[in-house]
Order: sequence, then C-alpha cells, then structure tokens
Amino acid sequence: MSILITNIKQLVQVHDSSISIVEGKNMNTLPILENAYVYIENDTIIEFGEMKDFSGIEAEYTIDASGKLVLPSWCDSHTHTVYAGDRTSEFVDRINGLSYAEIANRGGGILNSAKTLQNTSEEALFNQSMKRVNQLIEMGTGAIEIKTGYGLTVEAELKMLRVIKRIKQESQAKIIPTLLAAHAIPAEFRNKKEDYIKLITEELIPAAAELNIAHYIDAFCEEGYFSIEDTETILEVAAKYNLRPKIHVNQFNILGGIALGVKHNALSVDHLEELNKDDIEALKNSETMPVALPGCSFFLGIPYTPARQLIDAGLPLAIATDYNPGSAPSGNMNFVVSAACVKMNLTPEEAINAATINGAYAMGISNMYGSITRGKKANLIITKPMNHYSEIPYAYAHNPVEKVIVNGLLHE
Ligand code: NIG
Ligand code: FE
Repeated sequence: MSILITNIKQLVQVHDSSISIVEGKNMNTLPILENAYVYIENDTIIEFGEMKDFSGIEAEYTIDASGKLVLPSWCDSHTHTVYAGDRTSEFVDRINGLSYAEIANRGGGILNSAKTLQNTSEEALFNQSMKRVNQLIEMGTGAIEIKTGYGLTVEAELKMLRVIKRIKQESQAKIIPTLLAAHAIPAEFRNKKEDYIKLITEELIPAAAELNIAHYIDAFCEEGYFSIEDTETILEVAAKYNLRPKIHVNQFNILGGIALGVKHNALSVDHLEELNKDDIEALKNSETMPVALPGCSFFLGIPYTPARQLIDAGLPLAIATDYNPGSAPSGNMNFVVSAACVKMNLTPEEAINAATINGAYAMGISNMYGSITRGKKANLIITKPMNHYSEIPYAYAHNPVEKVIVNGLLHE
C-alpha cells in the first residue's frame, strides 16, 4: 500500500538524515516544511518535500491535507497501559483528603491494582488493555512502552508479559515491553523485603528472560518501596540477562537513583519531580534520557519536573504519559505536550521534540521512529485544520488529531 499526503500546511519534525536525540538548546529547534508532501510505501517513509518541487508521484491512495499539519506520531516512552480494573474509589478518597502515600499504606495503590490483576483472566486483561492501546493510537501515539509491575507474583508478572506480547503482535503500534520487576512490596512480604528481592532476582528475572519479551528492567526506587541498594541488586542481576535499566526515580524523594541509573547505563530515568544539582551533574555526559511525566504531577498534585533546569543545563528531555490506574489515568500525549508547555515552561518546539524523537530515544527506537526521515517507519499524525503546530499545546484538552497512519496503515 502506498499513500501520498499532499498540500500539508506544515510538515513537522523533518530531518534529511536520521537523528536519534535532541539536547539542550537544540530542543528549541523544530524543523518544518511549509506546503509540503510526504509519500509512504508499506510501513516506510520514502519521500517528502515542498509542493513546489513535487514531481507527481503516483500513489494507491492520496490524502489532501490542505490546512492541516503532519507530524511523526507521539512516542510514549513510559506507560503502565496493561492493568486490570481502575482505582476510581481511591481518586475520590484523595479528593476527600487522603494522600497517595496514605492510600498505599492502607493496602490501596499498587497493591490494590495487583490484587485485581491477579484475579483477572489473561483474556480479560488483554481485552481491557488492547482497548486502551487502540484509544492511544486514535490520540496520535504510534510507539508505546508498556511495563509489567502490577503482578507482584512471578505468575502474574508472566501473565502481564504474555499480554504485552500479544498486544505487540496484534497492534500496529510499536510496543516496547519493560519488566517492572520491583514495583511494590507485596503484603505477604511486608517484613521480609529481602525475600521478595530474592524472588525477583532468583525467580522472576530468570523466568521473564526465558519468555524473551522484555527489553528493559524497571524498579520503583523510592522511600517505602525499593532503596538504592535494593535497586542496584536488581539491576546487577538484570544486566546478566541483557535487560538495560529504565527506572522510576525521584518521584517523591531524592535517594540517588539518578546517579545509580547513570552508573548502570540506564536508557532513561523517569519522574524526577524532585531534582537537585547532583542529579543534573550525574546526567551530564551520560547516555541516560531524563523523562518527565507531567500527567502524574497534574493528577497527584505533586511538583512538575523542573524541566527548564535540565534543558538549560544542555541535557535532553523526553515527556511521557505514565498511563496507569493510580497516578496518571490518561494516556493522552496531546495533553502531556500541553502540560509540558503550560506547567514546565517548555516551548512548543521543546515539547514536541520531547514527545517524538526523545521519546523514541527513551525506548531505544529513535533510529526508526520519532521524526519524518526517509527510511523511518511510517507513523504519522494528520491534524485537524490548524495554522501552526503551537496550537497543539495551546488548545489544551482539545483533540488535535484527525487521522493517524500507524505502521503504514491509515486509521480514520
Ligand atoms: O509511575 N510510581 C510508581 N508507579 C506508577 C504509579 C503506580 C500506581 O499508583 O499504580 C507511577 O506513577
Ligand atoms: Fe510509572
């Protein structure tokens, strides 16, 4: 199947040669072509340029995008899209004054989601999760990292991995699976955390490696969850199975998780609502992408990642949804791009770079995703009529997406 899109008002994030990351000041540059076309064949971007240079390519299907923009699909590098049920009642508890920590201490939070997931069949878990993935695609997301972490037993974690594998097989979206081995300490291990870490390192990681689905290892490095030492033990074992870290750090407290991630060559360190100078120094000259999750800050009412400090220090930044039932029950990347501008003072250029090429980097796929480049995957957003890409973050909570092309297939 070949698709030609013509008369595009702005073709956004165009790069002649492949780029894999945008850092510091360069994040404020977002290359565009005005009055442009793009041509794709099967799952690949073949050609693009300005209409004035268009030499009349014949395609099986042509879309006239007059007055509309075309961008690379969003790359959402941090989600927990596979989960069972929801946590609406805890949402109401929080409105009535309980904190996220208080709810977790009463056996709510991650433990609540784990109980529901353990009691949900694999088929039902797949159906609930696949429905969410389809909604994400409609909102413009074409590549999605999905974590386990709501299993909290070897059996339930493997069930999550199999569900992620099936989504990967059946969805047109690019799916990147992560083993979130250490998400919370199950009630039965409350005073025996060491035993749970043993279960993770001696049983879960080897069993997960056997399934050969997960690309990355994750842990929630946080007070009341997993310490620096716990996290390091897990990362060291995971490294033997070629699982590179992408870790939850600095959400509520600074424990040194960023330096730990950098030491273990993490692909990304995520959350960073709390951040100090040492953290910023640790990230310099590393290959680790800092990832901010503004939807989580919005929903929990916690600080936003001080993204300006990161970018102004010359570092790159990615933004992601953190889509999960507890701290960010929305997978809408359009909102995340808005929140990054409104609440973290990113320019639209920085936010779109953070949500495309840098999001792709934070999944290890920026050689094939995250920009309009010849040879990259045909994952595109065609917007509703608008004049400029800045309208995407400006009109917050609007849906800017009219159509998407995912893996070369048109979804209208
Ligand atoms: O990224 N912080 C840890 N994990 C998730 C939330 C988990 C939950 O509340 O279910 C997060 O925010
Ligand atoms: Fe998360």
